[in-house]
Amino acid sequence: MPSIAVIGAQWGDEGKGKITDYEAGRADLVVRYQGGSNAGHTIMVGEEVFALHILPSGIVREGVINVIGNGVIVDMISLGREIADVESRGRSVDGLRISDRANIILNWHRLLDGAEERLRGKKGVGTTGKGIGPCYSDKIARSGIRMGDLLDPELLEERLDTIMPMKLKTMEMLDVRLAQSREELLEELLSYGKMYGKYITDTSVLINDALDNGKNVLFEGAQGTMLDIDHGTYPFVTSSNCVAGAICTGAGVGPKRVDEVMGVLKAYTTRVGAGPFPTELNDATGELLQKVGGEFGVTTGRARRCGWLDLLIVEHAARLNGLTQFAVTKLDVMNDIKRIKVAVAYDIDGKRVEHFPGNFRMLERAVPIYEELDGWKGWKPEETMEIVRGGYDALPKEMREYLGYIEKRSKVPAKIISIGKGREETIRR
Ligand code: GDP
Ligand code: IMO
Ligand code: MG
Repeated sequence: MPSIAVIGAQWGDEGKGKITDYEAGRADLVVRYQGGSNAGHTIMVGEEVFALHILPSGIVREGVINVIGNGVIVDMISLGREIADVESRGRSVDGLRISDRANIILNWHRLLDGAEERLRGKKGVGTTGKGIGPCYSDKIARSGIRMGDLLDPELLEERLDTIMPMKLKTMEMLDVRLAQSREELLEELLSYGKMYGKYITDTSVLINDALDNGKNVLFEGAQGTMLDIDHGTYPFVTSSNCVAGAICTGAGVGPKRVDEVMGVLKAYTTRVGAGPFPTELNDATGELLQKVGGEFGVTTGRARRCGWLDLLIVEHAARLNGLTQFAVTKLDVMNDIKRIKVAVAYDIDGKRVEHFPGNFRMLERAVPIYEELDGWKGWKPEETMEIVRGGYDALPKEMREYLGYIEKRSKVPAKIISIGKGREETIRR
């Protein structure tokens, strides 16, 4: 039963969308299991670009079943918009399935996300404003509305009447107002049930049956290891577990059902939003990576902060996810950089630290200890496919050395090498 997880090894935006789409060529199911529309996954097929937030990245592959698992929180507005976008481009979403257990993002989650960020002031997390934190909080507090509720008007009304008074009180406290009455909200939710009911099902049964029948299942992570609620740079993280362990709870499968765990690793490091970033470059090289890499958030349009690769993060991700392989992306962005630095340890208050610490104050004081490698000479864009056809050995020698260095230090083999945005600009070893 071959199943594979595709997980972000850094702070998100590593290229999970591209790699999922590439791998989906041999998948029967693509499953999202955590996060919500805070994700922004880009796929480029020929000249066509898809920016997906809630739909799994197998959606542009014909015949693939795309599953939004119970661990995802579903933004109905973004769902509607994306279905319309994909359909308007002549593609079908008939293969979409949404878990009846998935929680729904409601307007008050968005309002509260904004209010909480305002109250944090300068100590803000820099969230995407999509209501992620408040929605996951409500889920854990048992105050959520789930996709299945939309199909049961009586139950939905009961849930709304239990939850809404509490949320109105909270909103009043935080000085935000819901522009909807109970009736309007109920009507809106019922209309979602009518529109999307055909997609709602028990996705755990679906996924497990598929695995039992020898189908290929790809679990598509959102965000990344360093944004994980437990293992990331808390409190500058998202509100879900992003590591591979979340697949079990977020898709409803047992831990033995994941065969391969692929970490998507950007050849350098980026982060959007606030929080510590030891190898961040506030210089010309940082600007170059930002510009050449087109490092702007897909969800918020914010410029991403850029820096060197950090082996403490790579080791953290390899250990926490049990990575069995890497897909290394955006190597082309580093073309023509003469010398490349890689952080191998931090100096924190005069002590050498080799594992990523949990205390963000310590991280702010961390001074990276770098090793240097030779960079490689770039190529013209029109030469990319020639390199792809030549395979791994056609890559510049110094790039292969850089990859070999990462593999040696992390003990994780790099099996996919991505040297461009396009689906085809990819080498499988
Ligand atoms: P995700 O959130 O992990 O799916 O990543 P995003 O889509 O948010 O950001 C990755 C960006 O890098 C997107 O614009 C991709 O099209 C682009 N990208 C992915 N792989 C490569 C690559 O190998 N080279 C270049 N130049 N761009 C890439
Ligand atoms: P993908 O799947 C990069 C960041 C936000 C913020 C923090 C908390 O595209 O890799 P949230 O709205 O989740 O409460 O914000 O997490 N963040 C991401 N950064 N890529 C993402 O997703 C992200 N999703 C959330 O910028 O710092
Ligand atoms: Mg992204």
